[in-house]
Amino acid sequence: MESALDWHQARALLEWYVELGAVDAVGDVPVNRCALPEAAPKPARRATEAAPVPSSAPVEMPRVDQAAEARRLAAAASDLGALAEAMRGFDGLDLKKGARNFVFADGNPRARVMIVGEAPGADEDRIGRPFVGRAGQLLDRMLAAIGLAREAPDTARAVYITNVLPWRPPGNRTPTAEEMAMMVPFLERHIALADPEVLVLMGNTPCAALLGRTGILRLRGKWMQALEKPVMPMTHPAYLLRNPAAKREAWADLLEIAAKLEENA
Ligand code: URA
Repeated sequence: MESALDWHQARALLEWYVELGAVDAVGDVPVNRCALPEAAPKPARRATEAAPVPSSAPVEMPRVDQAAEARRLAAAASDLGALAEAMRGFDGLDLKKGARNFVFADGNPRARVMIVGEAPGADEDRIGRPFVGRAGQLLDRMLAAIGLAREAPDTARAVYITNVLPWRPPGNRTPTAEEMAMMVPFLERHIALADPEVLVLMGNTPCAALLGRTGILRLRGKWMQALEKPVMPMTHPAYLLRNPAAKREAWADLLEIAAKLEENA
């Protein structure tokens, strides 16, 4: 597209868009999504093709019940590799169409601690691994403070990390209840296959998915139970980046996790 802007003007405009909150470049020209689509021209029928049989009966297309399909696929996955492939191939969420990468998990799947976040952000979507952006870097520092690391080969020091959703919601919006419900069978199977001793839920979304509750500022710091495992809800590292004063409570939560691991060692 021809542009009347010089390099400096174009850069200033782009910076202004970022300041307004734009996170994705979708296209060069604005799209009127309210406009009705033009009727597509019908392809001419070839002489060899049979004429359509006139019928007054409406044609019923079989509808896939995506939630039932998610449960079926999750139950059929016998290991983590099979689960990842089943999730990658699942077409129940439109988010998949807009995402660059499918983000399954990171760390050591035999770790004693499994961390569940919300969904990939822009960096995770670009790289294809969970928690690699600023919030992820803070998470790594928090874990290191209690002697844990996602890359540790020793299962006693390792962590395993995943999210409720494997595809990035546009603009990092909060996942909808429907999106979460669709992916919960996969998440539950993921936890069953990894079989960690302790689950750590980062923020409201995994609490909603696994505990059926939100209100992280009230939930955090208290041991709960889900899927017959001890669960520690914590404030999300992205929240801690915005509210550094809350790091003191997060530190107390980390010490709880360290104590639980020590107790069961
Ligand atoms: N926030 C999350 O909840 N998960 C990620 O992977 C990155 C940011």
